[in-house]
Amino acid sequence: MAGCVLAILVCVAVLFTGAFTPVWAQTVPNQSLIEKAFPHSNKCKRCHERVYEEWETSPLAKSIHSPAFRASLDAYLTSAGGKDKTLCFRCHAPHVREFSDHVQLFIDQAKAGDPSLDGVACSQCHLIKQVDRAKHPPEPKYEIGGKTLYGPYKDFVQNLAHQSMELSLFQKSDLCLNCHQSVPSATNLGKANDLLGNWDQSRAVKSGKECQTCHMPQQVGESANGEKKRTIANHSFPGRIGKLRQEAAKLDVQTKIDGDTTTVTVKVYSLVPHNLPATHPAWARVVLNLDIKGKNLKTVFSDKRVYGRTYLDAKGQPTIFDFEAVKVAEDTVLKPEETREETFTFPTPKDTKTFDVEVGLSHGAISGPAPFLQRVEAESSQGSQDPVFQPIEIVKRTENVPVGK
Ligand code: HEC
Ligand code: HEC
Ligand code: HEC
Ligand code: HEC
Ligand code: HEC
Repeated sequence: MAGCVLAILVCVAVLFTGAFTPVWAQTVPNQSLIEKAFPHSNKCKRCHERVYEEWETSPLAKSIHSPAFRASLDAYLTSAGGKDKTLCFRCHAPHVREFSDHVQLFIDQAKAGDPSLDGVACSQCHLIKQVDRAKHPPEPKYEIGGKTLYGPYKDFVQNLAHQSMELSLFQKSDLCLNCHQSVPSATNLGKANDLLGNWDQSRAVKSGKECQTCHMPQQVGESANGEKKRTIANHSFPGRIGKLRQEAAKLDVQTKIDGDTTTVTVKVYSLVPHNLPATHPAWARVVLNLDIKGKNLKTVFSDKRVYGRTYLDAKGQPTIFDFEAVKVAEDTVLKPEETREETFTFPTPKDTKTFDVEVGLSHGAISGPAPFLQRVEAESSQGSQDPVFQPIEIVKRTENVPVGK
Protein backbone atom coordinates (compact mmCIF):
# COMPACT_ATOMS: atom_id res chain seq x y z
CA MET A 1 0.00 0.00 0.00
CA ALA A 2 2.75 2.45 0.99
CA GLY A 3 4.67 1.48 -2.18
CA CYS A 4 1.63 2.34 -4.25
CA VAL A 5 1.27 5.79 -2.74
CA LEU A 6 4.97 6.39 -3.30
CA ALA A 7 4.62 5.28 -6.94
CA ILE A 8 1.82 7.77 -7.49
CA LEU A 9 3.95 10.62 -6.15
CA VAL A 10 6.96 9.63 -8.24
CA CYS A 11 4.99 9.26 -11.46
CA VAL A 12 3.06 12.48 -11.02
CA ALA A 13 6.37 14.19 -10.40
CA VAL A 14 7.80 12.78 -13.64
CA LEU A 15 4.98 14.13 -15.81
CA PHE A 16 4.72 17.50 -14.12
CA THR A 17 8.12 18.26 -12.63
CA GLY A 18 7.36 21.95 -13.16
CA ALA A 19 5.52 22.06 -9.86
CA PHE A 20 8.80 21.23 -8.16
CA THR A 21 11.02 23.72 -10.00
CA PRO A 22 12.40 26.39 -7.68
CA VAL A 23 11.33 29.92 -8.66
CA TRP A 24 14.92 31.07 -9.32
CA ALA A 25 15.34 28.49 -12.07
CA GLN A 26 12.40 29.87 -14.02
CA THR A 27 14.33 32.75 -15.56
CA VAL A 28 16.49 30.35 -17.59
CA PRO A 29 14.95 30.28 -21.03
CA ASN A 30 15.02 26.65 -21.98
CA GLN A 31 12.79 24.05 -23.42
CA SER A 32 12.68 21.76 -20.42
CA LEU A 33 11.22 24.57 -18.37
CA ILE A 34 8.41 24.98 -20.90
CA GLU A 35 7.86 21.23 -20.99
CA LYS A 36 7.58 21.05 -17.23
CA ALA A 37 4.46 23.16 -17.49
CA PHE A 38 3.24 21.63 -20.75
CA PRO A 39 4.39 17.98 -20.72
CA HIS A 40 5.56 16.84 -24.16
CA SER A 41 3.23 14.60 -26.19
CA ASN A 42 5.90 11.85 -26.06
CA LYS A 43 5.08 11.49 -22.38
CA CYS A 44 1.43 10.74 -23.14
CA LYS A 45 2.20 8.28 -25.92
CA ARG A 46 3.25 5.60 -23.43
CA CYS A 47 -0.28 5.20 -22.08
CA HIS A 48 -2.45 6.80 -24.80
CA GLU A 49 -0.94 5.09 -27.81
CA ARG A 50 -4.10 5.12 -29.96
CA VAL A 51 -4.78 8.81 -29.35
CA TYR A 52 -1.14 9.66 -29.99
CA GLU A 53 -1.01 7.78 -33.29
CA GLU A 54 -4.21 9.44 -34.53
CA TRP A 55 -2.99 12.90 -33.53
CA GLU A 56 0.41 12.29 -35.13
CA THR A 57 -1.25 11.90 -38.57
CA SER A 58 -3.29 15.09 -38.16
CA PRO A 59 -2.36 18.53 -39.51
CA LEU A 60 -2.21 19.67 -35.87
CA ALA A 61 0.97 17.68 -35.36
CA LYS A 62 2.69 19.82 -38.03
CA SER A 63 1.37 23.17 -36.90
CA ILE A 64 4.81 24.80 -36.53
CA HIS A 65 6.77 23.11 -39.23
CA SER A 66 4.79 22.82 -42.43
CA PRO A 67 6.81 24.51 -45.21
CA ALA A 68 3.97 27.00 -45.79
CA PHE A 69 3.92 27.91 -42.10
CA ARG A 70 7.67 28.45 -41.96
CA ALA A 71 7.68 30.57 -45.11
CA SER A 72 4.76 32.71 -43.95
CA LEU A 73 6.10 33.02 -40.40
CA ASP A 74 9.24 34.47 -41.91
CA ALA A 75 7.20 36.82 -44.11
CA TYR A 76 5.32 37.96 -41.01
CA LEU A 77 8.41 38.50 -38.84
CA THR A 78 10.12 40.57 -41.55
CA SER A 79 6.96 42.60 -42.34
CA ALA A 80 6.34 46.10 -41.00
CA GLY A 81 3.52 44.87 -38.79
CA GLY A 82 5.42 41.86 -37.42
CA LYS A 83 6.26 43.36 -34.05
CA ASP A 84 4.35 40.94 -31.87
CA LYS A 85 6.58 37.92 -32.34
CA THR A 86 4.16 35.67 -30.46
CA LEU A 87 1.23 36.27 -32.83
CA CYS A 88 1.45 33.19 -35.02
CA PHE A 89 2.31 30.91 -32.13
CA ARG A 90 -0.72 32.00 -30.13
CA CYS A 91 -2.62 29.35 -32.08
CA HIS A 92 0.13 27.28 -33.72
CA ALA A 93 1.98 26.59 -30.42
CA PRO A 94 -0.30 28.18 -27.83
CA HIS A 95 1.93 27.52 -24.80
CA VAL A 96 3.77 30.64 -25.99
CA ARG A 97 0.98 32.52 -24.18
CA GLU A 98 2.52 31.43 -20.87
CA PHE A 99 6.13 31.78 -22.09
CA SER A 100 6.15 34.93 -24.19
CA ASP A 101 9.70 35.85 -23.04
CA HIS A 102 10.87 32.62 -24.65
CA VAL A 103 9.32 33.36 -28.03
CA GLN A 104 12.73 33.24 -29.74
CA LEU A 105 12.97 29.57 -28.84
CA PHE A 106 9.65 28.94 -30.59
CA ILE A 107 10.85 30.88 -33.65
CA ASP A 108 14.20 29.08 -33.81
CA GLN A 109 12.55 25.69 -33.46
CA ALA A 110 9.94 26.41 -36.11
CA LYS A 111 12.58 27.73 -38.51
CA ALA A 112 14.81 24.70 -37.99
CA GLY A 113 12.03 22.65 -39.60
CA ASP A 114 12.27 19.66 -37.29
CA PRO A 115 11.08 21.01 -33.98
CA SER A 116 11.25 18.92 -30.84
CA LEU A 117 8.92 21.49 -29.31
CA ASP A 118 5.23 20.61 -29.58
CA GLY A 119 2.86 22.79 -31.61
CA VAL A 120 -0.80 21.97 -30.96
CA ALA A 121 -0.37 18.78 -28.98
CA CYS A 122 -1.94 17.02 -25.98
CA SER A 123 -1.16 19.45 -23.16
CA GLN A 124 -1.91 22.46 -25.36
CA CYS A 125 -5.57 21.35 -25.37
CA HIS A 126 -5.92 19.29 -22.19
CA LEU A 127 -4.60 22.03 -19.87
CA ILE A 128 -7.21 24.53 -21.08
CA LYS A 129 -9.56 25.18 -18.20
CA GLN A 130 -11.72 27.87 -19.72
CA VAL A 131 -12.26 29.79 -22.95
CA ASP A 132 -13.24 33.44 -22.82
CA ARG A 133 -15.56 34.01 -25.78
CA ALA A 134 -15.99 37.70 -25.00
CA LYS A 135 -12.49 38.26 -26.44
CA HIS A 136 -11.83 38.46 -30.22
CA PRO A 137 -10.31 35.99 -30.98
CA PRO A 138 -11.60 34.06 -27.92
CA GLU A 139 -8.84 33.35 -25.37
CA PRO A 140 -7.92 30.16 -23.55
CA LYS A 141 -7.10 30.16 -19.85
CA TYR A 142 -4.45 27.56 -19.05
CA GLU A 143 -4.17 25.90 -15.68
CA ILE A 144 -0.48 25.13 -15.31
CA GLY A 145 1.56 24.17 -12.32
CA GLY A 146 -1.01 21.60 -11.20
CA LYS A 147 -1.13 17.94 -12.08
CA THR A 148 -4.61 17.83 -13.53
CA LEU A 149 -5.51 17.17 -17.14
CA TYR A 150 -8.99 18.12 -18.26
CA GLY A 151 -11.10 15.89 -20.45
CA PRO A 152 -14.57 14.59 -21.27
CA TYR A 153 -14.95 11.81 -18.67
CA LYS A 154 -16.62 12.08 -15.32
CA ASP A 155 -16.01 8.39 -14.63
CA PHE A 156 -12.30 8.41 -15.48
CA VAL A 157 -10.09 5.58 -14.26
CA GLN A 158 -7.37 6.76 -11.84
CA ASN A 159 -3.84 6.53 -13.14
CA LEU A 160 -0.33 6.98 -11.85
CA ALA A 161 0.76 9.83 -14.12
CA HIS A 162 -1.82 12.56 -13.72
CA GLN A 163 -5.03 13.56 -12.11
CA SER A 164 -8.11 13.89 -14.31
CA MET A 165 -11.06 16.21 -14.24
CA GLU A 166 -14.19 16.38 -16.33
CA LEU A 167 -14.89 19.68 -18.09
CA SER A 168 -17.93 20.07 -20.33
CA LEU A 169 -15.82 22.51 -22.39
CA PHE A 170 -14.25 19.46 -24.06
CA GLN A 171 -17.52 18.57 -25.74
CA LYS A 172 -18.26 22.13 -26.82
CA SER A 173 -17.23 24.18 -29.86
CA ASP A 174 -15.84 26.86 -27.51
CA LEU A 175 -12.66 24.84 -27.05
CA CYS A 176 -11.98 24.98 -30.81
CA LEU A 177 -13.15 28.56 -31.36
CA ASN A 178 -10.21 30.08 -29.52
CA CYS A 179 -8.06 29.14 -32.51
CA HIS A 180 -10.58 28.65 -35.31
CA GLN A 181 -13.03 31.54 -35.07
CA SER A 182 -10.98 34.50 -36.25
CA VAL A 183 -7.44 35.61 -36.93
CA PRO A 184 -6.12 39.10 -36.15
CA SER A 185 -5.30 41.22 -39.22
CA ALA A 186 -3.31 44.40 -39.81
CA THR A 187 -6.25 46.62 -39.00
CA ASN A 188 -9.63 45.83 -37.66
CA LEU A 189 -11.50 44.29 -40.56
CA GLY A 190 -14.52 43.93 -38.35
CA LYS A 191 -16.27 40.69 -39.19
CA ALA A 192 -14.08 40.20 -42.24
CA ASN A 193 -11.27 38.30 -40.57
CA ASP A 194 -13.82 35.91 -39.21
CA LEU A 195 -13.04 32.42 -40.53
CA LEU A 196 -16.20 30.42 -40.06
CA GLY A 197 -19.07 32.82 -40.91
CA ASN A 198 -22.48 32.45 -39.26
CA TRP A 199 -21.78 28.87 -38.22
CA ASP A 200 -23.92 29.17 -35.10
CA GLN A 201 -27.00 29.87 -37.27
CA SER A 202 -26.50 26.72 -39.37
CA ARG A 203 -29.02 23.86 -39.32
CA ALA A 204 -26.30 21.45 -38.15
CA VAL A 205 -25.32 23.55 -35.17
CA LYS A 206 -28.93 24.39 -34.29
CA SER A 207 -29.65 20.66 -34.25
CA GLY A 208 -27.02 20.28 -31.52
CA LYS A 209 -23.82 19.51 -33.41
CA GLU A 210 -20.53 20.81 -32.07
CA CYS A 211 -17.18 20.98 -33.91
CA GLN A 212 -16.25 17.67 -32.24
CA THR A 213 -19.34 15.86 -33.64
CA CYS A 214 -17.86 16.03 -37.15
CA HIS A 215 -14.14 16.65 -36.55
CA MET A 216 -13.56 14.24 -33.65
CA PRO A 217 -16.06 11.49 -34.52
CA GLN A 218 -16.86 9.10 -31.71
CA GLN A 219 -15.88 5.47 -31.81
CA VAL A 220 -15.59 2.65 -29.29
CA GLY A 221 -12.18 1.62 -28.01
CA GLU A 222 -9.57 1.99 -25.31
CA SER A 223 -8.99 5.48 -24.02
CA ALA A 224 -5.75 4.41 -22.34
CA ASN A 225 -3.77 1.23 -23.09
CA GLY A 226 -5.37 -1.82 -21.52
CA GLU A 227 -8.39 0.00 -20.08
CA LYS A 228 -11.94 -1.17 -20.79
CA LYS A 229 -13.58 -0.15 -24.05
CA ARG A 230 -15.76 2.93 -23.98
CA THR A 231 -16.78 5.90 -26.13
CA ILE A 232 -13.67 7.63 -27.39
CA ALA A 233 -12.99 10.51 -29.78
CA ASN A 234 -10.97 10.33 -32.98
CA HIS A 235 -7.88 12.53 -32.74
CA SER A 236 -6.88 12.53 -36.43
CA PHE A 237 -8.96 15.72 -36.87
CA PRO A 238 -10.42 14.95 -40.31
CA GLY A 239 -10.92 18.06 -42.44
CA ARG A 240 -9.22 18.46 -45.76
CA ILE A 241 -7.69 15.06 -45.14
CA GLY A 242 -9.87 12.08 -44.28
CA LYS A 243 -13.30 10.79 -45.12
CA LEU A 244 -15.22 13.77 -43.76
CA ARG A 245 -14.40 15.60 -47.00
CA GLN A 246 -16.92 13.41 -48.84
CA GLU A 247 -19.61 15.07 -46.73
CA ALA A 248 -18.57 18.59 -47.68
CA ALA A 249 -20.67 19.20 -50.79
CA LYS A 250 -23.01 17.82 -53.43
CA LEU A 251 -23.14 18.82 -57.07
CA ASP A 252 -26.19 18.93 -59.30
CA VAL A 253 -25.45 19.24 -63.03
CA GLN A 254 -27.98 20.16 -65.76
CA THR A 255 -27.00 20.45 -69.40
CA LYS A 256 -29.15 22.20 -72.01
CA ILE A 257 -28.26 22.08 -75.69
CA ASP A 258 -29.77 24.86 -77.77
CA GLY A 259 -28.46 24.41 -81.30
CA ASP A 260 -24.88 25.68 -81.43
CA THR A 261 -24.88 26.78 -77.82
CA THR A 262 -24.81 24.61 -74.73
CA THR A 263 -25.43 25.76 -71.19
CA VAL A 264 -24.38 23.79 -68.12
CA THR A 265 -25.92 24.79 -64.82
CA VAL A 266 -24.14 23.53 -61.72
CA LYS A 267 -25.64 23.75 -58.29
CA VAL A 268 -23.05 23.52 -55.54
CA TYR A 269 -24.68 22.50 -52.27
CA SER A 270 -22.31 23.14 -49.38
CA LEU A 271 -23.19 20.79 -46.53
CA VAL A 272 -20.61 22.40 -44.27
CA PRO A 273 -22.08 24.41 -41.36
CA HIS A 274 -19.34 27.04 -41.65
CA ASN A 275 -17.50 28.88 -44.44
CA LEU A 276 -15.93 26.72 -47.13
CA PRO A 277 -13.05 27.28 -47.30
CA ALA A 278 -12.21 28.61 -43.86
CA THR A 279 -10.34 31.77 -44.84
CA HIS A 280 -6.99 31.40 -43.06
CA PRO A 281 -4.37 31.17 -44.49
CA ALA A 282 -5.67 33.82 -46.86
CA TRP A 283 -4.70 31.84 -49.96
CA ALA A 284 -7.20 29.08 -49.06
CA ARG A 285 -9.42 28.44 -52.09
CA VAL A 286 -12.06 25.97 -53.16
CA VAL A 287 -12.30 25.66 -56.93
CA LEU A 288 -15.16 24.45 -59.14
CA ASN A 289 -13.75 23.12 -62.41
CA LEU A 290 -15.75 22.38 -65.55
CA ASP A 291 -14.27 20.36 -68.43
CA ILE A 292 -16.13 19.47 -71.61
CA LYS A 293 -14.70 16.49 -73.44
CA GLY A 294 -15.80 16.03 -77.05
CA LYS A 295 -14.61 13.70 -79.78
CA ASN A 296 -11.97 11.19 -78.57
CA LEU A 297 -12.42 12.66 -75.09
CA LYS A 298 -10.45 15.71 -76.11
CA THR A 299 -11.10 18.74 -73.91
CA VAL A 300 -12.95 21.30 -75.99
CA PHE A 301 -13.89 23.74 -73.25
CA SER A 302 -12.79 24.45 -69.66
CA ASP A 303 -13.80 27.03 -67.13
CA LYS A 304 -13.79 27.46 -63.36
CA ARG A 305 -15.18 29.40 -60.42
CA VAL A 306 -13.06 30.21 -57.39
CA TYR A 307 -14.37 30.46 -53.83
CA GLY A 308 -12.23 32.36 -51.35
CA ARG A 309 -11.51 35.77 -49.91
CA THR A 310 -8.99 38.19 -51.38
CA TYR A 311 -7.43 41.12 -49.53
CA LEU A 312 -5.67 44.41 -50.15
CA ASP A 313 -2.77 45.69 -48.06
CA ALA A 314 -2.21 49.27 -46.83
CA LYS A 315 -0.81 50.26 -50.25
CA GLY A 316 -3.93 48.97 -51.99
CA GLN A 317 -2.05 45.99 -53.44
CA PRO A 318 -3.44 42.43 -53.37
CA THR A 319 -1.90 40.33 -50.58
CA ILE A 320 -2.07 36.65 -49.71
CA PHE A 321 -1.20 37.42 -46.08
CA ASP A 322 -4.06 38.17 -43.71
CA PHE A 323 -1.60 39.82 -41.29
CA GLU A 324 -1.09 42.56 -43.92
CA ALA A 325 -4.74 42.85 -44.92
CA VAL A 326 -6.55 46.12 -44.36
CA LYS A 327 -9.43 45.62 -46.78
CA VAL A 328 -11.40 42.78 -48.35
CA ALA A 329 -11.19 42.95 -52.14
CA GLU A 330 -13.59 40.13 -52.94
CA ASP A 331 -15.42 37.47 -50.96
CA THR A 332 -16.79 34.47 -52.86
CA VAL A 333 -16.53 31.97 -49.97
CA LEU A 334 -19.35 29.41 -49.81
CA LYS A 335 -21.30 30.50 -46.76
CA PRO A 336 -22.57 27.95 -44.18
CA GLU A 337 -24.86 25.40 -45.94
CA GLU A 338 -25.16 27.70 -48.96
CA THR A 339 -26.35 26.58 -52.40
CA ARG A 340 -24.51 28.38 -55.19
CA GLU A 341 -25.67 28.21 -58.79
CA GLU A 342 -23.16 28.65 -61.60
CA THR A 343 -23.84 28.70 -65.34
CA PHE A 344 -21.33 27.98 -68.08
CA THR A 345 -22.07 28.64 -71.75
CA PHE A 346 -19.99 27.30 -74.62
CA PRO A 347 -20.28 26.18 -78.27
CA THR A 348 -21.91 22.75 -78.58
CA PRO A 349 -19.10 20.22 -79.35
CA LYS A 350 -19.03 19.24 -83.03
CA ASP A 351 -18.48 15.94 -84.92
CA THR A 352 -19.55 13.79 -81.98
CA LYS A 353 -22.70 11.99 -80.89
CA THR A 354 -22.07 12.59 -77.21
CA PHE A 355 -19.80 14.63 -75.01
CA ASP A 356 -18.74 14.43 -71.37
CA VAL A 357 -19.43 17.10 -68.82
CA GLU A 358 -16.94 16.80 -65.96
CA VAL A 359 -17.51 18.93 -62.91
CA GLY A 360 -15.23 18.80 -59.87
CA LEU A 361 -14.94 20.70 -56.62
CA SER A 362 -11.56 20.72 -54.90
CA HIS A 363 -9.38 22.54 -52.42
CA GLY A 364 -6.97 24.56 -54.55
CA ALA A 365 -3.20 24.29 -54.35
CA ILE A 366 -1.35 27.11 -52.61
CA SER A 367 -1.18 30.30 -54.70
CA GLY A 368 0.61 33.62 -54.38
CA PRO A 369 3.54 35.64 -55.72
CA ALA A 370 6.32 33.56 -57.30
CA PRO A 371 9.04 34.44 -54.72
CA PHE A 372 6.80 33.22 -51.90
CA LEU A 373 5.96 29.96 -53.69
CA GLN A 374 9.68 29.41 -54.39
CA ARG A 375 10.36 29.95 -50.71
CA VAL A 376 7.74 27.34 -49.75
CA GLU A 377 9.28 24.93 -52.23
CA ALA A 378 12.75 25.57 -50.79
CA GLU A 379 11.46 24.97 -47.24
CA SER A 380 10.03 21.56 -48.18
CA SER A 381 12.10 18.39 -48.25
CA GLN A 382 9.78 17.30 -51.08
CA GLY A 383 10.36 20.50 -53.06
CA SER A 384 7.70 21.08 -55.71
CA GLN A 385 6.18 17.69 -54.80
CA ASP A 386 5.08 19.00 -51.40
CA PRO A 387 1.35 18.25 -50.86
CA VAL A 388 0.62 21.98 -50.51
CA PHE A 389 1.16 22.28 -54.30
CA GLN A 390 -1.50 19.64 -55.04
CA PRO A 391 -5.24 20.26 -55.20
CA ILE A 392 -7.39 17.98 -53.02
CA GLU A 393 -10.55 16.67 -54.64
CA ILE A 394 -13.79 17.06 -52.68
CA VAL A 395 -16.41 15.75 -55.11
CA LYS A 396 -16.58 15.07 -58.82
CA ARG A 397 -19.33 14.27 -61.33
CA THR A 398 -19.16 13.16 -64.92
CA GLU A 399 -22.20 13.03 -67.21
CA ASN A 400 -22.34 11.78 -70.75
CA VAL A 401 -24.63 14.00 -72.82
CA PRO A 402 -26.07 12.98 -76.20
CA VAL A 403 -25.93 15.77 -78.78
CA GLY A 404 -29.11 14.47 -80.46
CA LYS A 405 -30.82 15.88 -83.49
C1 HEC B 1 -4.49 25.90 -29.87
C2 HEC B 1 -5.15 26.20 -31.11
C3 HEC B 1 -6.13 25.19 -31.65
C4 HEC B 1 -7.20 24.61 -31.00
C5 HEC B 1 -7.64 24.80 -29.54
C6 HEC B 1 -7.86 23.79 -31.97
N1 HEC B 1 -7.22 23.86 -33.18
FE1 HEC B 1 -7.71 22.91 -34.89
N2 HEC B 1 -6.03 23.61 -35.79
C7 HEC B 1 -5.16 24.51 -35.25
C8 HEC B 1 -4.09 24.78 -36.18
C9 HEC B 1 -2.93 25.73 -35.96
C10 HEC B 1 -4.34 23.97 -37.32
C11 HEC B 1 -3.52 23.90 -38.60
C12 HEC B 1 -2.37 23.01 -38.45
C13 HEC B 1 -1.50 23.09 -39.69
O1 HEC B 1 -1.90 22.53 -40.72
O2 HEC B 1 -0.46 23.74 -39.61
C14 HEC B 1 -5.57 23.24 -37.03
C15 HEC B 1 -6.15 22.32 -37.89
C16 HEC B 1 -7.37 21.70 -37.66
C17 HEC B 1 -8.05 20.84 -38.60
C18 HEC B 1 -7.56 20.44 -39.98
C19 HEC B 1 -8.04 21.47 -40.95
C20 HEC B 1 -7.81 21.13 -42.39
O3 HEC B 1 -7.58 22.09 -43.15
O4 HEC B 1 -7.88 19.98 -42.77
C21 HEC B 1 -9.24 20.48 -38.04
C22 HEC B 1 -10.31 19.61 -38.65
C23 HEC B 1 -9.28 21.07 -36.72
N3 HEC B 1 -8.13 21.81 -36.52
C24 HEC B 1 -10.33 20.93 -35.84
C25 HEC B 1 -10.30 21.37 -34.52
C26 HEC B 1 -11.32 21.05 -33.55
C27 HEC B 1 -12.56 20.22 -33.81
C28 HEC B 1 -10.94 21.65 -32.39
C29 HEC B 1 -11.65 21.61 -31.05
C30 HEC B 1 -11.86 20.29 -30.47
C31 HEC B 1 -9.69 22.32 -32.63
N4 HEC B 1 -9.34 22.13 -33.94
C32 HEC B 1 -8.99 23.05 -31.69
C33 HEC B 1 -5.26 25.09 -34.00
C34 HEC B 1 -6.16 24.71 -33.03
C1 HEC C 1 -6.25 32.82 -34.01
C2 HEC C 1 -5.44 31.66 -34.28
C3 HEC C 1 -4.36 31.73 -35.34
C4 HEC C 1 -3.39 32.68 -35.49
C5 HEC C 1 -3.15 33.91 -34.64
C6 HEC C 1 -2.60 32.25 -36.63
N1 HEC C 1 -3.09 31.08 -37.15
FE1 HEC C 1 -2.41 30.11 -38.81
N2 HEC C 1 -3.85 28.69 -38.58
C7 HEC C 1 -4.80 28.69 -37.59
C8 HEC C 1 -5.73 27.61 -37.84
C9 HEC C 1 -6.92 27.27 -36.97
C10 HEC C 1 -5.33 26.98 -39.02
C11 HEC C 1 -6.01 25.83 -39.75
C12 HEC C 1 -6.99 26.45 -40.71
C13 HEC C 1 -7.71 25.50 -41.61
O1 HEC C 1 -7.19 24.46 -41.95
O2 HEC C 1 -8.84 25.86 -42.00
C14 HEC C 1 -4.14 27.69 -39.48
C15 HEC C 1 -3.44 27.39 -40.64
C16 HEC C 1 -2.33 28.06 -41.08
C17 HEC C 1 -1.58 27.71 -42.26
C18 HEC C 1 -1.88 26.56 -43.21
C19 HEC C 1 -1.46 25.27 -42.61
C20 HEC C 1 0.02 25.08 -42.63
O3 HEC C 1 0.61 24.87 -41.55
O4 HEC C 1 0.65 25.17 -43.71
C21 HEC C 1 -0.53 28.60 -42.34
C22 HEC C 1 0.54 28.63 -43.40
C23 HEC C 1 -0.67 29.52 -41.22
N3 HEC C 1 -1.76 29.17 -40.49
C24 HEC C 1 0.21 30.56 -40.98
C25 HEC C 1 0.06 31.47 -39.92
C26 HEC C 1 0.96 32.60 -39.68
C27 HEC C 1 2.20 32.90 -40.49
C28 HEC C 1 0.46 33.27 -38.62
C29 HEC C 1 0.98 34.55 -38.00
C30 HEC C 1 1.03 35.68 -38.87
C31 HEC C 1 -0.74 32.57 -38.18
N4 HEC C 1 -0.94 31.50 -38.99
C32 HEC C 1 -1.52 32.97 -37.12
C33 HEC C 1 -4.90 29.57 -36.53
C34 HEC C 1 -4.16 30.72 -36.38
C1 HEC D 1 0.81 6.16 -16.78
C2 HEC D 1 -0.13 6.19 -17.90
C3 HEC D 1 -0.62 7.55 -18.37
C4 HEC D 1 0.13 8.61 -18.83
C5 HEC D 1 1.65 8.72 -18.94
C6 HEC D 1 -0.82 9.61 -19.25
N1 HEC D 1 -2.11 9.16 -19.03
FE1 HEC D 1 -3.81 10.17 -19.43
N2 HEC D 1 -4.92 8.67 -18.62
C7 HEC D 1 -4.43 7.46 -18.22
C8 HEC D 1 -5.52 6.61 -17.81
C9 HEC D 1 -5.43 5.17 -17.30
C10 HEC D 1 -6.70 7.36 -17.99
C11 HEC D 1 -8.14 6.93 -17.71
C12 HEC D 1 -8.78 6.40 -18.98
C13 HEC D 1 -10.23 6.02 -18.79
O1 HEC D 1 -10.86 6.45 -17.82
O2 HEC D 1 -10.75 5.30 -19.66
C14 HEC D 1 -6.29 8.64 -18.50
C15 HEC D 1 -7.18 9.66 -18.84
C16 HEC D 1 -6.81 10.80 -19.53
C17 HEC D 1 -7.73 11.79 -20.00
C18 HEC D 1 -9.24 11.81 -19.81
C19 HEC D 1 -9.54 12.57 -18.53
C20 HEC D 1 -11.01 12.84 -18.33
O3 HEC D 1 -11.44 12.99 -17.17
O4 HEC D 1 -11.74 12.90 -19.32
C21 HEC D 1 -6.99 12.75 -20.65
C22 HEC D 1 -7.51 14.00 -21.32
C23 HEC D 1 -5.62 12.33 -20.57
N3 HEC D 1 -5.54 11.17 -19.88
C24 HEC D 1 -4.58 13.03 -21.16
C25 HEC D 1 -3.23 12.71 -20.98
C26 HEC D 1 -2.16 13.52 -21.47
C27 HEC D 1 -2.34 14.81 -22.24
C28 HEC D 1 -1.00 12.91 -21.10
C29 HEC D 1 0.43 13.41 -21.35
C30 HEC D 1 0.71 14.74 -20.84
C31 HEC D 1 -1.36 11.72 -20.36
N4 HEC D 1 -2.72 11.63 -20.31
C32 HEC D 1 -0.45 10.81 -19.83
C33 HEC D 1 -3.11 7.11 -18.18
C34 HEC D 1 -2.03 7.91 -18.51
C1 HEC E 1 -7.13 20.29 -30.50
C2 HEC E 1 -7.32 19.87 -29.14
C3 HEC E 1 -6.87 18.49 -28.73
C4 HEC E 1 -5.64 17.92 -28.91
C5 HEC E 1 -4.46 18.47 -29.66
C6 HEC E 1 -5.67 16.66 -28.22
N1 HEC E 1 -6.91 16.46 -27.68
FE1 HEC E 1 -7.48 14.88 -26.56
N2 HEC E 1 -9.40 15.53 -26.62
C7 HEC E 1 -9.80 16.74 -27.09
C8 HEC E 1 -11.23 16.84 -26.97
C9 HEC E 1 -12.08 18.02 -27.43
C10 HEC E 1 -11.69 15.63 -26.39
C11 HEC E 1 -13.13 15.24 -26.08
C12 HEC E 1 -13.84 14.81 -27.37
C13 HEC E 1 -15.24 14.36 -27.14
O1 HEC E 1 -15.52 13.73 -26.11
O2 HEC E 1 -16.07 14.62 -28.01
C14 HEC E 1 -10.49 14.82 -26.16
C15 HEC E 1 -10.49 13.57 -25.57
C16 HEC E 1 -9.34 12.91 -25.14
C17 HEC E 1 -9.31 11.69 -24.35
C18 HEC E 1 -10.52 10.88 -23.93
C19 HEC E 1 -11.20 10.27 -25.15
C20 HEC E 1 -10.34 9.36 -25.94
O3 HEC E 1 -10.41 9.44 -27.18
O4 HEC E 1 -9.58 8.55 -25.39
C21 HEC E 1 -8.00 11.40 -24.14
C22 HEC E 1 -7.44 10.22 -23.37
C23 HEC E 1 -7.21 12.41 -24.80
N3 HEC E 1 -8.05 13.31 -25.40
C24 HEC E 1 -5.82 12.45 -24.81
C25 HEC E 1 -5.09 13.21 -25.71
C26 HEC E 1 -3.69 13.00 -26.03
C27 HEC E 1 -2.81 11.96 -25.37
C28 HEC E 1 -3.35 13.89 -26.99
C29 HEC E 1 -2.03 14.06 -27.71
C30 HEC E 1 -1.54 12.87 -28.41
C31 HEC E 1 -4.54 14.71 -27.24
N4 HEC E 1 -5.56 14.24 -26.48
C32 HEC E 1 -4.59 15.78 -28.13
C33 HEC E 1 -9.00 17.73 -27.61
C34 HEC E 1 -7.67 17.55 -27.97
C1 HEC F 1 -21.94 18.96 -39.47
C2 HEC F 1 -20.53 18.67 -39.48
C3 HEC F 1 -19.54 19.79 -39.16
C4 HEC F 1 -19.50 20.60 -38.04
C5 HEC F 1 -20.48 20.64 -36.88
C6 HEC F 1 -18.32 21.40 -38.19
N1 HEC F 1 -17.66 21.10 -39.35
FE1 HEC F 1 -15.85 21.81 -39.97
N2 HEC F 1 -16.05 20.78 -41.69
C7 HEC F 1 -17.07 19.91 -42.01
C8 HEC F 1 -16.89 19.41 -43.34
C9 HEC F 1 -17.79 18.42 -44.06
C10 HEC F 1 -15.71 20.01 -43.82
C11 HEC F 1 -15.12 19.89 -45.20
C12 HEC F 1 -13.97 19.04 -45.29
C13 HEC F 1 -13.06 19.69 -46.28
O1 HEC F 1 -12.35 20.61 -45.86
O2 HEC F 1 -13.10 19.35 -47.44
C14 HEC F 1 -15.19 20.85 -42.75
C15 HEC F 1 -13.99 21.55 -42.81
C16 HEC F 1 -13.39 22.18 -41.73
C17 HEC F 1 -12.04 22.72 -41.70
C18 HEC F 1 -11.01 22.65 -42.80
C19 HEC F 1 -11.55 23.30 -44.01
C20 HEC F 1 -10.95 24.51 -44.57
O3 HEC F 1 -11.59 25.00 -45.50
O4 HEC F 1 -9.88 24.98 -44.15
C21 HEC F 1 -11.86 23.28 -40.46
C22 HEC F 1 -10.62 23.98 -39.96
C23 HEC F 1 -13.10 23.10 -39.72
N3 HEC F 1 -13.99 22.43 -40.52
C24 HEC F 1 -13.33 23.54 -38.43
C25 HEC F 1 -14.55 23.46 -37.77
C26 HEC F 1 -14.83 24.08 -36.50
C27 HEC F 1 -13.86 24.92 -35.70
C28 HEC F 1 -16.11 23.75 -36.17
C29 HEC F 1 -16.93 24.21 -34.98
C30 HEC F 1 -17.18 25.64 -34.88
C31 HEC F 1 -16.63 22.92 -37.24
N4 HEC F 1 -15.66 22.78 -38.19
C32 HEC F 1 -17.89 22.34 -37.27
C33 HEC F 1 -18.11 19.56 -41.20
C34 HEC F 1 -18.39 20.13 -39.97
